[in-house]
Amino acid sequence: MKKRASVNKDIDMAKSSQQLTEEIDSLRRKIARLEKAEVARRESEEKYRNLVESTRDLIFIVSEKGAYTYVNPQFERATGYSVRDLIGQPFTFLVAPEHIESTIRRFKKGIRGEDTPPYEADLINRNGSRVPVEFLVTTRHNPAGRAIGRFGIGRDITERRRAEETLKHQSRQLRILSAKLSEAEESERKRIARELHDQVGQNLTVVGINLSIVKSALSDAGTDALRRRLEDSMDLVEEITEFTRGLMGDLRPPDMDLLGLAASIGWYGERFAMRTGVDVVVEGEEIHPRPNPDIENNLFRIAQEVLTNIGKHARASSARIRIGVCDGMLRLVIADDGAGFEPSLAPKADERGGWGLMTMAERADAIGGRFRVESAIGKGTRVTVEVPL
Ligand SMILES: Nc1ncnc2c1ncn2[C@@H]1O[C@H](COP(=O)(O)OP(=O)(O)OP(=O)(O)O)[C@@H](O)[C@H]1O
Ligand SMILES: [Mg+2]
Repeated sequence: MKKRASVNKDIDMAKSSQQLTEEIDSLRRKIARLEKAEVARRESEEKYRNLVESTRDLIFIVSEKGAYTYVNPQFERATGYSVRDLIGQPFTFLVAPEHIESTIRRFKKGIRGEDTPPYEADLINRNGSRVPVEFLVTTRHNPAGRAIGRFGIGRDITERRRAEETLKHQSRQLRILSAKLSEAEESERKRIARELHDQVGQNLTVVGINLSIVKSALSDAGTDALRRRLEDSMDLVEEITEFTRGLMGDLRPPDMDLLGLAASIGWYGERFAMRTGVDVVVEGEEIHPRPNPDIENNLFRIAQEVLTNIGKHARASSARIRIGVCDGMLRLVIADDGAGFEPSLAPKADERGGWGLMTMAERADAIGGRFRVESAIGKGTRVTVEVPL
């Protein structure tokens, strides 16, 4: 009996030692698997760390209280503060004073679970200089879904800002240049009109008078051939005089000081109607008190170009010009019943033309007004300029 028990014990021991070996093996395999997983985890962590630390972007994590818990080394380059300086600081530490309030508002919104679109804010470098940054920040949550802070990426947009500033500066200069060009054009037109009047016009008058004196002196003794020559010359003088007057009118509006804007445009409309056969109706009274001369002059030039375009492109049978004041706005509307066009496809300014629409928009801009063209193929064209008085 005793012997039997000992045999059983031996069997039990052999079994448990085999079990133990198996368990140890399984444990070893588990450890090997864990070790492999740990190596993979470390490799992956290293990969991401390298990525985060070598990128040119600013990458950061802040706690739900708004303190930096992680910043990548790029912060040092952009702000002059070391990673160690920044960990534990509130994120507002780096933000320019005027952007602090909006940044905090956005942070609170994010923690509450609301979306925060990308935004721009300036950071202040340790040396006092500014770094414009575009931020994209999202909220981090724990597995239970509670907000535990924010994770963000910031991009230094100094270069972009510089390019934008240069562009803004250049377009400002271009506008000034174009205003100066208009001014120069205006004074040159005046000068040529004056010369035409003083030199050509007056001399033509004298030639006309001389010719009629010669004609009356000739009436007794002259031959028919000479008389015909003379009459022909007198007709020519009259024709040139009329042509010069027309040219003067185009170059220089009639004395706007005397006539006022509505009458000047009316006068030009009449001449245009005579020249082109387009029926022109002008509606509107003179504006009281008179707008300043700059406004009057620019609006007159705009009306002139709109009518020129109607003559050149519209094949219209009629045009209607309205001038009036409504709610402190001077409004000039010129509409035609012509062919119309697709404004978005209108040719851009180049050596062949296409300057009219641009110049009109710039003239309106120069007097603080708005310029609008409404047109469609087959539906005529309407140009509106509104200027605050
Ligand atoms: N009233 C209109 N009816 C039909 N098409 C028009 C009218 N006004 C302008 N357009 C179209 O818009 C284009 C641009 O007009 P814009 O005045 O800028 O240039 P342009 O008259 O062709 O040349 P530029 O004014 O430089 O001598 C015209 O070429 C024409 O196709
Ligand atoms: Mg034109």
